[in-house]
Amino acid sequence: MEISGAHSINGEIRIPGDKSISHRSAIISSITHETVAIKNFLFSEDCENTITVLGKLGVKTEKIDDTLIIHGCGIENFKEPDDVLYVGNSGTTIRLLAGILASAGFNCVLSGDSSINKRPMGRILKPLSEMGATIYGRENNSKAPIIIIGNNILKGRSFDLNVSSAQVKSCLVLAGLFSEGTTEINQPEISRDHTERMLEYFGADISYDGKYTRITPGKKLTGKNIFVPCDISSAAYFIVACLILKDSRIVIKDIGINPTRSYFIELLKNMGAEIKIKNIRTLNNEQLADIEVKSSRLKSVQINKKFIPNIIDEIPVLCVAAAFSEGKTLISGAKELRFKESDRISSIVTQFKKAGVSIEEMDDGITINGNPDLKIDEGAYESYGDHRMAMSVAILGLKSKTRIRVLGSESIDTSFPGFKYELKKAMH
Ligand code: S3P
Repeated sequence: MEISGAHSINGEIRIPGDKSISHRSAIISSITHETVAIKNFLFSEDCENTITVLGKLGVKTEKIDDTLIIHGCGIENFKEPDDVLYVGNSGTTIRLLAGILASAGFNCVLSGDSSINKRPMGRILKPLSEMGATIYGRENNSKAPIIIIGNNILKGRSFDLNVSSAQVKSCLVLAGLFSEGTTEINQPEISRDHTERMLEYFGADISYDGKYTRITPGKKLTGKNIFVPCDISSAAYFIVACLILKDSRIVIKDIGINPTRSYFIELLKNMGAEIKIKNIRTLNNEQLADIEVKSSRLKSVQINKKFIPNIIDEIPVLCVAAAFSEGKTLISGAKELRFKESDRISSIVTQFKKAGVSIEEMDDGITINGNPDLKIDEGAYESYGDHRMAMSVAILGLKSKTRIRVLGSESIDTSFPGFKYELKKAMH
């Protein structure tokens, strides 16, 4: 993808449905016994992989315009797949489904692309084994492909996790739904709670408060129609673009502002961003709103461990905002960035340095000396097969002297297939 320097971006931007909520809506609806219509579903590569895997498990699905229909059949009607369940690049698919399939009553193998098969899976394999699952992975049970011998009855347990990951928590919550007794999970920091909200909406016996989640099986899940809010993590690229370019104003509608996902907006406001949140409402247990953003003069910010899970996917583009801010930004307690689609600490620092940003790598974070007058150097920038890196580098390119090239930008299709079109439409 080639991006030329831009003067401004303007207009209404269409952001696709939330990736985390789309995955959950498909997976959780399939274990109900209702037909569920999921409107504004994100038909991106990652979520298409979830649909394909559910199809291999015998779940019937249909696509009608922007709506995914899931014919929920209940876990007892899932069938043993006749092939490997391939999740592509999607961590949410492999980790959430492992939780369900651990007690599905048949054997299966979950695998993904080269990035997925490098990412840490011990964080789900170990607690699932402790619940009684027979589950194995490569490299001493730490990596995918994952093999599940799914004929065990799991037992609910209490977990004090040492990592704050919504994927791990959701895996254990879904496993807990099909276990004997109650499962409790404590995390060091608050992570996104979409799984809890959706299970509550469907009538599960679940309670959650900050870092704590508890699930008890037995109550019937009743599938209900869902509207997927637009993805705040995808909106983040346009929000930052608007802030760092002159004479810009954008409006983005129906954005999910779940409190466990929207600290990014607070943070930008603390940096001096002019952002207005309007028309706040709640649909299917998730809050959404319309957002108006204007060009702003930004100042640096300090971010520590407590808020990292809330903004984990926005950090690459937050670094773009920091690069054009006054002062020194410090992001610490963010080692989890090293275990994403790429090692994002290393990816960001390497590419931003090449672009002329004053940036330093730490073991668990990044420091950036911002410069509001910075112009990005022309060149070809790597995205390491990581969609969020590709989009962040593209936004950096809007401030280039001439133009830049983003290598491997196809990965953007995993979460935001219309990204290039929306950007081109808004650029002046
Ligand atoms: C996700 C949780 C986060 C996030 C990922 C999606 C989810 O990962 O980075 O893009 O849908 O639960 P972790 O939970 O592993 O931090």
